Amino acid sequence: MSKSISIAVVGSGYVGLVAAVCFAEMGHEVICVDNDERKVVALQGGDTLIHEHYLPELLSRYRNGRVRFTTDLADATRKCAAIFIAVGTPQSETGDADLSYVEAVACEIARSIDSYKVIVEKSTVPVYTNEWISRAMERNGVDHSLFDVVSNPEFLREGTAVADFLHPDRIVVGADSERAGAILKDIYAPLTNGEYYQRADGIPGFCSVSEPPPLLMTSTKSAEIIKHASNAFLAMKISFINAVSNLCEAANANVEQVAKGMGLDTRIGPKFLRPGIGYGGSCFPKDVAAFRSVADQMGVDFSLLSEVEKINAQQKKRFVSKVRSALWNLRGKKLGVLGLAFKGETDDIRESPAIEIVKMLLAEGCSISAFDPAAAKRTEQILPASATLRYVDEAYDAAADADALLILTDWPEFAELDLKRLNQALRYPIVIDGRNLYDPHAMTEHGFTYLSVGRPAAYPVRDLASAPSR
Ligand code: UGA
Repeated sequence: MSKSISIAVVGSGYVGLVAAVCFAEMGHEVICVDNDERKVVALQGGDTLIHEHYLPELLSRYRNGRVRFTTDLADATRKCAAIFIAVGTPQSETGDADLSYVEAVACEIARSIDSYKVIVEKSTVPVYTNEWISRAMERNGVDHSLFDVVSNPEFLREGTAVADFLHPDRIVVGADSERAGAILKDIYAPLTNGEYYQRADGIPGFCSVSEPPPLLMTSTKSAEIIKHASNAFLAMKISFINAVSNLCEAANANVEQVAKGMGLDTRIGPKFLRPGIGYGGSCFPKDVAAFRSVADQMGVDFSLLSEVEKINAQQKKRFVSKVRSALWNLRGKKLGVLGLAFKGETDDIRESPAIEIVKMLLAEGCSISAFDPAAAKRTEQILPASATLRYVDEAYDAAADADALLILTDWPEFAELDLKRLNQALRYPIVIDGRNLYDPHAMTEHGFTYLSVGRPAAYPVRDLASAPSR
């Protein structure tokens, strides 16, 4: 039987909240601290605040029991053996990660620490952050014998965060002291020894008793770099396939076939080779910029990352050009938009390429009816409805009387739409798909002109003669 450990998690965003309820699910006693009183009250009342699979179940299992929510970091520091810092590390104007929240938390811990604690960086931070946290503690009068700083990066994806946390590909622990490393090993023991996967009510996923996740012990600095390097590599894979998709469009080849042919090579692998309108979200754009900035500061030429960013920015502009190429002029055109979130199955709109494209099209004089199953409310807060922008309640309403329908987020339900009904709703049966959700052949059979990413444009048989030459 694994030990139960008292854990404080500071920050109740995607990473902090998910970590808090998952640690409770693993049998630990958790205090989740946030300085936003309204969030704390909402969480105590059972509001998950974010759209995340399994979060409502776990929150109702443990809230006000094995997970307590509070604003009192001093009390949590005194009561817990391990303190996970999961506060935001937003992008500053120079591209660096802004670590002022991390520093503020370290200083507050320093003021209340009264026995040995392991302080764990869970937020994505640049290499050397552990040293700065130690320095901040010592500057505030804390003897180093009272704490260790460990890096334990998180690799969860939004939308599948709970399952990713409990069924990780790997757990990385960067610790320069054995004592701290041992505490982290105890915390993750229910996963690494397979105990969690014996439970009948456990969250399902791909790990099992016979195949538990590996725990990799590294130095603290290596762990910090593993996180940035992993996100930057995944972003590079996406930009690479997007550049290949542009080449496929120019050569009239099919990027899906190319990606499949590449991905069958086990050294390359099939994942993260889906072309589209570019990556977004709260992690990749920020982390690529921060990693580039860390390299710059250390005098290391990593201009590959600038290319990754450049391709990503171009991908949105290319999509708008594709809409123009299908409709001739954009001014005065009425467009249906499906999807506002930065990817399917989340209500998160941070750095969403869908929203950037909507803004570009509004600036070109289009009017837009937009639908998203979860992200419309958040979008409306930053992009209010107007004479040219309407938010509608279902996909077919977005298509109603539109000159074309644009697919901007890969929600699985968009792939299931009734094509006949969609065709009847549109003024012109034109679909421009930034996420390659449909089979071009099925689209032409249903009478659509169908433009997607990196695949030959598809026209209904009767329209072939009139397909515009580019
Ligand atoms: C990403 C990483 O996948 C996680 O491992 C990491 O823990 C997380 O960032 C983080 O650092 O917190 P997330 O931002 O939730 O997770 O989303 P992803 O599923 O990775 O997608 C990121 C963006 O890339 C989305 O806009 C998505 O549409 C796009 N994408 C993804 C593609 O365009 N093509 C692909 O093949 C895959």
